[in-house]
Amino acid sequence: MSQPQSSVSKLSFSRPDSPQWQALARHIEDLRTSSLAGLFQQDDQRFEHFSIEAAGLTLDYSKNFLTEETLKLLLALAEKCQLSQAIADMFDGCAINTSEQRPALHVALRSPQQNTVQEQAVHACLNKMQGFVEAVLEGNWTGHEGKAITDVVNIGIGGSDLGPAMVYQALTPYHVPGLNCHFVSNVDPAHLLQTLTGLNPETTLFIVASKSFSTLETSMNAILARQWFLDSGAPPNALSHHFVAVSANVDKAAAFGIDPANIFPLWDWVGGRYSLWSAIGLPIALGVGMENFRALLAGAHIMDEHFRTAPARANMPVLMGLLTIGYLNFFGAETQVVLPYAQNLHLFPAFLQQLDMESLGKSVHRDGSAVDTTTGGIIWGSAGTNGQHSFHQLLHQGTHLIPADFIVAAQTHYEQSAESLAQHRQLLANCFSQSQALMLGKTLTEATTELQAQGLDPAAVATLAPHKVIAGNRPSNTLLMQKLTPRALGSLIAAYEHKVYVQSVILGIDAFDQWGVELGKTLSTTLHQALERQDCKEEQNVDSSAFDSSTRGLINYYQKFCRNPA
Ligand code: F6P
Repeated sequence: MSQPQSSVSKLSFSRPDSPQWQALARHIEDLRTSSLAGLFQQDDQRFEHFSIEAAGLTLDYSKNFLTEETLKLLLALAEKCQLSQAIADMFDGCAINTSEQRPALHVALRSPQQNTVQEQAVHACLNKMQGFVEAVLEGNWTGHEGKAITDVVNIGIGGSDLGPAMVYQALTPYHVPGLNCHFVSNVDPAHLLQTLTGLNPETTLFIVASKSFSTLETSMNAILARQWFLDSGAPPNALSHHFVAVSANVDKAAAFGIDPANIFPLWDWVGGRYSLWSAIGLPIALGVGMENFRALLAGAHIMDEHFRTAPARANMPVLMGLLTIGYLNFFGAETQVVLPYAQNLHLFPAFLQQLDMESLGKSVHRDGSAVDTTTGGIIWGSAGTNGQHSFHQLLHQGTHLIPADFIVAAQTHYEQSAESLAQHRQLLANCFSQSQALMLGKTLTEATTELQAQGLDPAAVATLAPHKVIAGNRPSNTLLMQKLTPRALGSLIAAYEHKVYVQSVILGIDAFDQWGVELGKTLSTTLHQALERQDCKEEQNVDSSAFDSSTRGLINYYQKFCRNPA
């Protein structure tokens, strides 16, 4: 497919010795000494000045080390890096994945247009998905014994697992009754075999999801699943009722034994971690129905349009990306915590880990030269309020500066009682108060007064008060939505996808390749061969020239227990 020439490889990017970078560094040196609480005292309209609405989301970024001057300097940096050109290049289908010379056109997956070749292919695929989903949900696609499908097992890993699993979980209130989706990724046989426990082969549908159809984990799990199915006594010709695939590698999927009519397409211009919007989202579409899947796409498209058209100062993903560039490069932050105050979003941090860290965990620029900036941060987190009873201690009183993203919905799906509404209000109260506590902290005077009021003697007050001091001044964003609907979720995910792209453009790195994962894959093949050669039978020390002594020791340990199973 011919695609417009990318100008991305020719765009300039931020160099620490550039005037824009230097000006920002000088400004932030001063800003670091100010307190967030002080910034609020100076401007009691800070929320109005530093919050933004887009695509049904509101981002409150007022609790950041940020003034209009900071924004001006960050935006100057973005302009120097020709960010608006880079955004246009993405939507125009330019080869912005420069090391692999191809476009990254996930935005085409949620475009309602059918103008380009890619958009036409997307809509043809959506129609195929629609036909399949309706057939399964209406009982026209059945197992080989004519029984309706009750369980869908998605076999995939990385982008072929994390996105669909996260979205399916997030949209629990929209689940189609009578159909359960399961997600198996790990090569550990426990994952598949435990998932299959209690499932009925006659009513189970497997989706083998792999863009390449050559990923070790997925291939092995697919083989094990096929064996489980055939061991139930089903004839081989029943496989076509129970196994479908999503892949860009149709030949390999067909060679595995999937009926070509049941292979849903994928394209090289869709990165794995950006693929939940494609047929990789088939388990989502089955799990919540095609209408809700299309609403998810629509939400993402609204965010795409915002990202494509809004000026940088009023562009949510641009602001999110620039803030992160600032923390990682000028404040020495190494990690970012993501705190969805929504149990159904508990997989969101894991999804973001792949999206952000596989995209931005790079050490060279697009032209291969070494970076001289901090690229991707370490993403972690979990659902609130649970984290408050484990790692929030470190957020409040630890020695690291960890910018936080809070995510919360104003309404719950569970409005059936005054009690459930009150619980949801507690969720919001906790979310809002955590960002407040991170910002304000508690001074020694406050801690002392508090202890004195409890009637402690002066010596005890003096000893205990320092332990109760909370430095505060910890920055955070809060992303708000009315309700966690398919549409809002689509917008939320797209906002983070674009934020990551913004960071990559400023840093001058390729956000769409992942060469770093290759070495581990190659070495594991050699290791597996070594383990297999031992074959658990005879005592045989590993060829000492082939491995370092640690690896030899590990292989010998396996050999020992393999011969003597407990
Ligand atoms: O190993 C990393 C990776 O290539 C991811 O980028 C990708 O999402 C995952 O493996 C799965 O790849 P595939 O869909 O080709 O099985």
